[in-house]
Amino acid sequence: MVQATYYFPPRFLWGTATSAHQVEGNNTNNNWWAWEQQSGRIIHGHQSGLACDWWNGRWREDFDRAAESGQNAHRLSVEWSRVQPAPDRWDEDALDRYREMVRGLKERGIIPMVTLHHFTDPLWVSEMGGWENEAIIGLFEAYVNKVVEALREYVTLWITINEPNIVAFFGFLFGVFPPGKNSIRAAGRVMINMVQAHSAAYRAIHALQPAAQVGVAHHYHHTRPGKAWFPLDRWAAGIQGRTFNDAFPRALADGVLRLPFTRRRVPAARGTQDFLGVNYYMSDYVAFSLFNPKQLFTRRFNAADADLSDTGWIANEPQGLFEALKWGRQFKLPMIVTENGVEDADDHLRPRYLLQHLHQVWRAVNFNWPVKGYFHWSLVDNFEWERGWTQRFGLWELDVDTQIRRKRPSVDLYAEICRENNISSELVSRYAPEVFDKLFPT
Ligand code: FCB
Repeated sequence: MVQATYYFPPRFLWGTATSAHQVEGNNTNNNWWAWEQQSGRIIHGHQSGLACDWWNGRWREDFDRAAESGQNAHRLSVEWSRVQPAPDRWDEDALDRYREMVRGLKERGIIPMVTLHHFTDPLWVSEMGGWENEAIIGLFEAYVNKVVEALREYVTLWITINEPNIVAFFGFLFGVFPPGKNSIRAAGRVMINMVQAHSAAYRAIHALQPAAQVGVAHHYHHTRPGKAWFPLDRWAAGIQGRTFNDAFPRALADGVLRLPFTRRRVPAARGTQDFLGVNYYMSDYVAFSLFNPKQLFTRRFNAADADLSDTGWIANEPQGLFEALKWGRQFKLPMIVTENGVEDADDHLRPRYLLQHLHQVWRAVNFNWPVKGYFHWSLVDNFEWERGWTQRFGLWELDVDTQIRRKRPSVDLYAEICRENNISSELVSRYAPEVFDKLFPT
């Protein structure tokens, strides 16, 4: 049997990612909480409720878990509606609590990465029209200033906005996130306002903290034509890729936002990323469909033999992560995998998923592509948006009623990788022998 070890570069960031609304609990003052109260919005009527109870202090035990299992970085988000509960009010106690959390990470030897916007808006912002109203640009900038001033003693790694493409498409085109619209024009306006809000935030952060490293967590969806020989499938894959994957990060590179029916110059956005954050979960096929204009004329499907997650939502397609990083190279920036993971309640799939995806990260690193870290989604099971509690992404399992955490086998697997900074053939044979030959071919 082959014996080999895949090494990662020194100072590689090994962590997990979470977001405020998904873990804190009782975030009653934002648009997602309101959305959860409406019938038919969340599967089985699930609600975020107490979530993982971080706001009452359970972050301490979860950060202990992260530290004890070798993680040296953690990505968490700050909830805008807590910091600014009303347009004319800042909540200093909330800021203190976030300061305690990021200090808590540092004290445990964990580098914090802070996301400033992860899907949720304060209710008063959504009542003004949220991301459709360009007033949000200045409001977001003011909020960012406030947070960065409060946390800069402990934080230099910042994500302005998590997955702007998902916010725009899911909230304003597909209608599955609040505010539940189906309008391509609205989605376009949201994209433009997000580009501008990001670029204002980028400058604000650097003005307060010249050494800051600022990026966006981009959701990259790897899309292939269903029939490679069929021009309309290729066209559908192309438009999907250009609009969904490329538009936002390209606007931050060259100051031009290119959308299917419009092109907008945003010169201030040019060069406003210090690193490229990549969230990767999905790789599938698309076929042209005249009946789906709102989905950019595409119908999506997985390969017939796909290795699927519990609810069939994620296919284990590690090669797509390599493709994501290959795509990311065009921006000529350091790259960080800011999210990647799988829903898997009984942990039968996660070990091989994790090893196969990290193998692809290692391949990228081995080509000397500048990948600086990997954040697994997620540390502990948390509230999965419109899919409620039906999807379990945690390394630790959460019993939502009792708040008891239980370790899944993947905890120890990931801990060995984080501590050793490598993946050995011996490790793979212990945790995922079924993919040994894929990782270590003879
Ligand atoms: C990403 C989100 C994150 C989580 C994962 C599973 O799109 O950024 O909050 O829901 O999906």
